[in-house]
Amino acid sequence: EKGTYPFYMLKEIDEQPTVMRKLTQEYRDDHGKVNIDLNLVNEMADSDRIYIVACGTSYNAGWAAKSLIETVTQIPVEVQLSSEFGYNMPLLSKKPFFIFLTQSGETADSRQVLVQINQLGFPSLTITNVAGSTLSREAKYTLLLHAGPEIAVASTKAYTAQIAMLAILTQAIGERNKTNTSFDAFYELSIAAAGMEAMVDEKERLSSLVEQYLSTTRNAFYIGRGNDYHVASEAALKLKEISYVQAEGFAAGELKHGTIALIEEGTPVLGIITDAKTGPHTRGNLKEVESRGANTIVIASEDLAREDDQVILPKVHPLLTSLVAVVPTQLIAYYVSMQRGYDVDKPRNLAKSVTVE
Ligand code: F6R
Repeated sequence: EKGTYPFYMLKEIDEQPTVMRKLTQEYRDDHGKVNIDLNLVNEMADSDRIYIVACGTSYNAGWAAKSLIETVTQIPVEVQLSSEFGYNMPLLSKKPFFIFLTQSGETADSRQVLVQINQLGFPSLTITNVAGSTLSREAKYTLLLHAGPEIAVASTKAYTAQIAMLAILTQAIGERNKTNTSFDAFYELSIAAAGMEAMVDEKERLSSLVEQYLSTTRNAFYIGRGNDYHVASEAALKLKEISYVQAEGFAAGELKHGTIALIEEGTPVLGIITDAKTGPHTRGNLKEVESRGANTIVIASEDLAREDDQVILPKVHPLLTSLVAVVPTQLIAYYVSMQRGYDVDKPRNLAKSVTVE
């Protein structure tokens, strides 16, 4: 039930901090340790490469979790689009482990890869929000997101739940392989949940930001580096699918190699900055587009923020910044769609689960 909310999407954005806490409850035992099937943990911990296979927002969640998984487990991670991977399978490592990220558990593009992986006899895990879904039944292992039904076509809480689930799973692998020295998933997720709560409280600010910069634009760019680039990709997808603004998520440094030609007077360029190492470079790229007429909007974490930055993100663990950075971008997409009078929950041409290849 959406209750007093005008659209499910807004309700689902708001639910994200609660989903973080729910996930922690579900997967934490009485001693504060990770409670996940040991066969799954052992099999994944013994693999030499993790392949994440997914579509759309779930694919973007895979990218957002890649460096987290690699840092904590020391196992290389590849993130692949289902619709590409199935027909052009790369040379696989000797002991691969497959993770299917799928909110619905019904995505046909992802299922066709799982069918092949099963034929090849490789172990698989489906991370899904829907118990008993097709991909959950057909994979060797399943982990549930416990995010509650996601009704809006645009995925929000499944994205953050997938990243959190991968953080918890990663913690278990890191403990088993003794590769983890300092990351404490449950503690860091509680900090992130508080940060997300602060961001969902910024609705009025974000709504007026949208009025100021995005009310009539036909196109927009999100830029960032590293994890901020991955959030930029998800932010752009959200903007495209519900507000029909042609948006691109771009690696900030790559813009000048061609795409900067698209910048005109008034083009909105939103920069995401949560990493001290790359932040100054992204700021440099924002200056470059500004001098070509762009309207720049900065979304920066509080430790790196400058006085005139428009959105300030609470500080969280450097490997989990996507959890807080994505929230204002979800709200921005929401307000663009709403202010233009669209049906936010049911964008044109889209269905909630894509059951054709
Ligand atoms: C975007 C969106 C889609 C889905 C994609 C995968 O908001 O909803 O891009 O993320 O179709 O769906 P699942 O995760 O159900 O496999």
